[in-house]
Amino acid sequence: MTIQPDQLRIGLIGVGNMGSFYARELTAGTIPRAVLAAVCDEDPARLAPWTGVTQYSSAEALLNHPTLDAVLIATPHYAHTTLGIAALDKGLHVLVDKPISVHKADAVRLLAAHRNPQQIFAAMFNQRTDGYFLKIKELVDAGSLGELRRVNWIITNWFRTDAYYASGGWRATWAGEGGGVLLNQCPHQLDMLCWLTGTPERVDAHCQFGRYHDIEVEDDVTAYLEYANGATGVFITSTGEAPGTNRLELIGEGGKVVLEADTLHFYRNQTPMSAFSRTTTESFAAPEVSVETYDGLNHGEQHVGVLKNFVAAILDGAPLIAPAAEGLASVELANAMLLSAFERRPVELPIDADAYAKCLQQRIAASTHRKKTAAPSGPSDMKGSF
Ligand SMILES: NC(=O)c1ccc[n+]([C@@H]2O[C@H](COP(=O)([O-])OP(=O)(O)OC[C@H]3O[C@@H](n4cnc5c(N)ncnc54)[C@H](O)[C@@H]3O)[C@@H](O)[C@H]2O)c1
Repeated sequence: MTIQPDQLRIGLIGVGNMGSFYARELTAGTIPRAVLAAVCDEDPARLAPWTGVTQYSSAEALLNHPTLDAVLIATPHYAHTTLGIAALDKGLHVLVDKPISVHKADAVRLLAAHRNPQQIFAAMFNQRTDGYFLKIKELVDAGSLGELRRVNWIITNWFRTDAYYASGGWRATWAGEGGGVLLNQCPHQLDMLCWLTGTPERVDAHCQFGRYHDIEVEDDVTAYLEYANGATGVFITSTGEAPGTNRLELIGEGGKVVLEADTLHFYRNQTPMSAFSRTTTESFAAPEVSVETYDGLNHGEQHVGVLKNFVAAILDGAPLIAPAAEGLASVELANAMLLSAFERRPVELPIDADAYAKCLQQRIAASTHRKKTAAPSGPSDMKGSF
């Protein structure tokens, strides 16, 4: 493979399910001005398809590759912290997959290693490129929704089979993954929630551990959220329910946003709801509403869009879609939900990072679950990541 002098040389750490997708896009030339310069994986079988690319059997060896500009980390979660710190210490630009770390203390350590502002450090929150969420963000930022009063998000369309959980020894274990649906599938929605509404200041979460699958971590969550302004919310997710739902409602003084099944409506109040309630003399009236339907939107470029943006940030100084620093919020919110469920009490944010790390460590130490693994028979791909 010939690398042009103006091409950004990316090293990929972890060529599993997600890493294979990134490797395919990079080698297909989908990301202009970037080239896959080296790959590494601890599993030699994962490297086998990438014959035209320099290969390493360890991340340490890849990080010593003489001509890398950037790395993309697509390993199991705990290694995001250690490898991210190692890559930043080498002076490389870093794009880390979600979640940026398993727990807040790790995330804080990882972000502290980003000392040089010339180094670009981004996170793979591909849903931030989605046209539907971008439209909602625009409505929120423009003040059309008004002050937030309630958020409801049901995300039960992350259905996963036993074969999925058996497809990797690290999956769905406290020691290997650090959690279940909150750490693997829902970092996307937790990031989106914080991006759109800010971070709640209290959560009261009920998690069921291994409700649907033979796993030790949570595969079903119902969380009640409270925000500093008194707004409340409900966040429900599961990997065991089919058919699933993905429905987001944001209710503000100015109206209601509803996103479900690729349909986005904004119900715009002609008078903000509390002002209407205070000023009308009628008992059973409600504000007049005009309904706006946003069609013609699409899901955007997703992972490819984040990759292109990472390259543009490095080469052109473009603003990042998802700076890694913004990945702390979703990690902390996931931790807060788990802590609330572990201790069966509402949890205030910010959480005590060290106390949570200790709590997780205790789960790991007390684990008696015997993880079953088996190679999947169906296609192994990035199914359902948006
Ligand atoms: N952004 C998204 O939409 C999306 C979707 C799926 C997965 N992910 C994330 O991608 C990451 C990987 O998930 P996956 O499903 O591809 O897992 P996977 O198990 O299929 O692949 C992980 C690969 O990393 C390798 N590996 C493990 N430790 C390593 C190390 N220290 N050095 C080098 N290689 C190492 C493994 O051998 C394996 O091939 C996770 O963080 C996951 O949350 C993101």
